Amino acid sequence: MTSTLVAAERRSARLEGAVLADPASFRILTGDRPTGPLHIGHYFGTLENRVRLQRLGVELLVLIADYQAITDRDSPAHLPVDVEGLVLDYLAAGIDPDRAIIFTHSQIAELNQLVLPFLSLVSVSELRRNPTVKDEIAAGGGTTSALMFTYPVHQAADILFCHANLVPVGRDQLPHVELARTIARRFNDRYSPGRPYFPEPEALMGTAPLLLGLDGRKMGKSRGNAITLGASEDETARRIRAAKTDGERRITYEPDRRPEVANLVRLAAICSGVAAETVAEQVGDGGASVLKRLAADALNERLRPIRARRSELAGERDHLRAVLARGNARAGEIAAETLRAVKELMHTRY
Ligand code: TRP
Repeated sequence: MTSTLVAAERRSARLEGAVLADPASFRILTGDRPTGPLHIGHYFGTLENRVRLQRLGVELLVLIADYQAITDRDSPAHLPVDVEGLVLDYLAAGIDPDRAIIFTHSQIAELNQLVLPFLSLVSVSELRRNPTVKDEIAAGGGTTSALMFTYPVHQAADILFCHANLVPVGRDQLPHVELARTIARRFNDRYSPGRPYFPEPEALMGTAPLLLGLDGRKMGKSRGNAITLGASEDETARRIRAAKTDGERRITYEPDRRPEVANLVRLAAICSGVAAETVAEQVGDGGASVLKRLAADALNERLRPIRARRSELAGERDHLRAVLARGNARAGEIAAETLRAVKELMHTRY
């Protein structure tokens, strides 16, 4: 692990303490690209944590990043379905729509306008060095749009427009939070010296162990190796039965040597709230089929209330649209106020 990662984890652990001590002093901005239904990797990796933080009393803004979804997709035809699907998944997971602000990039003009001054505060070589963007460009294989190249600056606007001071993220997003901090600092130095206007946001890293996909690779919406929140119990069991394991009968928890088996053990452990080692011991000579049944049962039981809420809400499309419309309106007000202040500080109010 690199030293920056260790430092980020240490800072993150300290932050967790500060949040518990005074949740109301924090405002979270977090978001997802609308590229398909959310899966259990999202749930255990971040959604569950968002719900926990909101219940503690932290203010929560959730961005459906539709202008990020167009960085690497050719067709926007699916966006309406995917956007509404995200709202549904959020509410099913337990995000309280009366308190959270759920909104989309494309509807918040004033947020997007912040990208222009922010672009002036970073250099092309800084953008070129961003490791996450580099990976995404390499994975894409084709030509790289300028939006892909500059989306971390846009993401800084996502975070700064609402003065969020806490951004719960996975490791891959750390460079983006770092850039948001840099932009905040440079903006303050240049336009508001001595009286910082933007807070420097902190990354809050999840503590949940990482779940791999059912084939042992990274879990991904587009890789066909995930279980979505909305999947039926039968489908869940079927997919877990088909998961990759190895040729050894006895089940043990050895993440390095047996990553696929360890992943199923971990899934069962997370869902039933016991240690992975205990799950492995329980299954022992029962082998992969017993492990898979245990994991499927534990996951189905864990997701049952979420899925029940999800199917109920799925029929209430007017409600889902109203939640988003209200979120867009509130995010719009916040963005308008920020842009007004930014214009003032930049001497561009004529
Ligand atoms: N880049 C994030 C992802 O791909 C989504 C996102 C957009 C985001 N804006 C954000 C996350 C601001 C945190 C903060 O998942």
